[in-house]
Amino acid sequence: MDTTKVTLILDGEHHNFNMKKDEVILDIALSNGIDAPHSCQGGVCMTCLGKVTNGKTQMDDPGMLSDEEIDEGLTLTCISKPRSEEITIDYDDV
Ligand code: FES
Repeated sequence: MDTTKVTLILDGEHHNFNMKKDEVILDIALSNGIDAPHSCQGGVCMTCLGKVTNGKTQMDDPGMLSDEEIDEGLTLTCISKPRSEEITIDYDDV
């Protein structure tokens, strides 16, 4: 399957949508009308930081994140893509 079922947790609310694995998570969240935090959209400001609590994501470039932070599940949603059939990203747990 090249699609992923995404759950975003933001301010205690769960938002669900489906997206393709070659799309960027923040872009699709915004196009679904979700007010996901963001600013630079280039992996620099860390405003879009979330924690992957289920599934896998991948960043082509780690941006400002250290290897340890990535190992903890932190991801910059403006530059990350889904890599599993389901993912959950918690913006409240960072
Ligand atoms: S929006 Fe700036 S790092 Fe993602």
